[in-house]
Amino acid sequence: MKGKVCLITGSSTGIGFETALALARKGATVLTVARNSEKVKQAVEDLIEESGNENIDGFDIDLSSQKYIRKRAGEIVKKYPVIDVLVNNAGTWYSRLTYTEDNIEMQFAVNHLAYFLFTQELLPSLVRSDDPRIINVASNSHFHGKMHFNDINLTKKYHGLRAYAQSKLANVLFTYEFERRKTISKLSVYCVQPGLVKTNIGLKHTVSFHGLAWKIRRLSGVTPAEGAETSIYLASSEEVRGISGKYWDKMKIKKSSKGSMMKEDAARLWLLSERLCDIDDYFEIIADETE
Ligand SMILES: NC(=O)c1ccc[n+]([C@@H]2O[C@H](COP(=O)([O-])OP(=O)(O)OC[C@H]3O[C@@H](n4cnc5c(N)ncnc54)[C@H](OP(=O)(O)O)[C@@H]3O)[C@@H](O)[C@H]2O)c1
Repeated sequence: MKGKVCLITGSSTGIGFETALALARKGATVLTVARNSEKVKQAVEDLIEESGNENIDGFDIDLSSQKYIRKRAGEIVKKYPVIDVLVNNAGTWYSRLTYTEDNIEMQFAVNHLAYFLFTQELLPSLVRSDDPRIINVASNSHFHGKMHFNDINLTKKYHGLRAYAQSKLANVLFTYEFERRKTISKLSVYCVQPGLVKTNIGLKHTVSFHGLAWKIRRLSGVTPAEGAETSIYLASSEEVRGISGKYWDKMKIKKSSKGSMMKEDAARLWLLSERLCDIDDYFEIIADETE
């Protein structure tokens, strides 16, 4: 991976940190993105120390804020005119209905809309790579998901699990619709499910009962390093070059849910996401680029 630039969101901890570490060990320049500036600084130090690779940079971005995403993505594109791999990995779980500053339900905003908007903002750097790869970290939870288009914030029937499953279904629908709509064929997009992984995702914004349930559930999970394996494989393997628009599990293509195959829902989600992010034409940003 020497000479490649890989950006991993949510890489201050958990699956994202392990993905960043493995890619740093393979020699890539790694850009680590997370919400909190102190945690980003710490992650950069740890990645350098544990990988022996000095080419690590960090950016604090609150991915729940569209203003922040646009501002920081602009800085990243200027500093890194070529980005080879984007891993949309940052994710969150909220027990209670919580709104972002853009007035959007938190899990839908961070787990889906941030993937959608951040990817678009980074397209100018991605298309300058000869093998650009976008990896969306989803979850098998999407099998239980349903798109609540008439109440996307789930104001009437909020439950953390329902909001999480909807956001993870959105990851898969986004991946497939991106593949159908992309204007540059070399852009490859992959969707990955890491399995049940022992991280703290279910302890951060949860009521005590949900926190306890997550502590018990994750006992049967794999380590974050194991959970990162498929993301690392998709970011670095020559075998998967150009195999775009698929759902991956344990380094193999897997069939995703029936709901994720609904083309009408994918198109509807795309238009809704454009509207919520105030985007007229998603690929306009790279309209001047040719193959
Ligand atoms: N753990 C599992 O069993 C499992 C299973 C299937 C899928 N996944 C998916 O795997 C991905 C990684 O999850 P994980 O288990 O590794 O969770 P984690 O350990 O909690 O890590 C999540 C990362 O995302 C960051 N993040 C959260 N909200 C953010 C925001 N608003 N702005 C910027 N960064 C933000 C976190 O930063 P902070 O620490 O500051 O919050 C952290 O760096 C997620 O997409 C999750 O849905 C996980």
